[in-house]
Amino acid sequence: MIVLGIETSCDETAASVVGPDGVLSDVVHTQGVHEEYGGVVPELAGRAHADKVVTTVQAALSRAGIERPDAVAATAGPGLIGAVLVGLCFGKSLAAGWRVPFIGVNHLEGHLLSAMLEPDGPEFPFLSLVVSGGHTSLYLARALGEYTVLGETVDDAAGEAFDKVARMLDLGYPGGPAVDRLALTGNARAVELPRPQPKVKPPKTPSGHQGTRALDMSFSGLKTAVRAQLNHASPPDICASFQQAVVDVLTNRVQRAAKQTGVRSVTMAGGVAANSQLRAAMMGLDLDVRLPPKSRCTDNAAMIAHAGRLRLMEGERHGLDRAARAQWTPGA
Ligand code: KG4
Ligand code: ZN
Repeated sequence: MIVLGIETSCDETAASVVGPDGVLSDVVHTQGVHEEYGGVVPELAGRAHADKVVTTVQAALSRAGIERPDAVAATAGPGLIGAVLVGLCFGKSLAAGWRVPFIGVNHLEGHLLSAMLEPDGPEFPFLSLVVSGGHTSLYLARALGEYTVLGETVDDAAGEAFDKVARMLDLGYPGGPAVDRLALTGNARAVELPRPQPKVKPPKTPSGHQGTRALDMSFSGLKTAVRAQLNHASPPDICASFQQAVVDVLTNRVQRAAKQTGVRSVTMAGGVAANSQLRAAMMGLDLDVRLPPKSRCTDNAAMIAHAGRLRLMEGERHGLDRAARAQWTPGA
């Protein structure tokens, strides 16, 4: 089955074609309009997606050498609702016009399964760390659609912390890649920073996540600690030390999760998974770590086509009334 995937949940307009032998095309257009605002402006994101989505899909189809896929998959959430709606509505109309099946895909499920697209990708069960600008969660993926959150951030996402530290240092937006680059010339031990561990609190409801788990994370205190050091260290040292603290927290949770579950197969995705130091630290763990390439860590549509394709092959179909969702836990 050859599937067209469409992704418009944040500030990347992306389209990709994925078939039984893997990715046939993978087109990503990153919106530039947000740079001057230092963060994604939802209304501008929606409009920029509307401007680009048609040509992006056309490029993906022509690079794949096909006129019509066997099915269409589009991100249905979570994300900026006005942005999600652009790709979702376009995907539905294409599926209706072509008379092919349609499926709405969870963006986080796309990230958490993205390493499976690689020829030597992981097989279920595996641990998947999704670290992006809006999410930081460690999942146990037992099978398609069967995901348990083992731990997640109780405040800022890891990418958000990178972006905030970059803003403090005037490094521009998005900040992650800039911090990553500057950290290369800094000393990771120059600035002493905390590795915060949220206090474990029992859930308020039997099914809810309002409590705190042993594998939960917190990044807002780290950001405050960085602010206190701004005038006492050089930007490269601050970047290297901050990055080291984030890497230590994330790899610590992965190691503990592997011990807790007995699952040694590990992957990660999301924009922060493109971080060079985090990738090196993960590869150094005494676990079976398989990482997607950097280009498949940040937002892309190949992961949407892939997650949609797996579900479509199990017979799942969505009607044209499938709604966009701003919040959506993968597997739910
Ligand atoms: O997954 P993503 O492209 O978008 C969503 O948030 O869904 O992730 C974007 C985030 C931003 O916070 C960006 O600063 C961060 O990923 N990021 C990085 C790197 N590349 C992107 N953070 C650290 N190091 C990087 N190399
Ligand atoms: Zn993402």
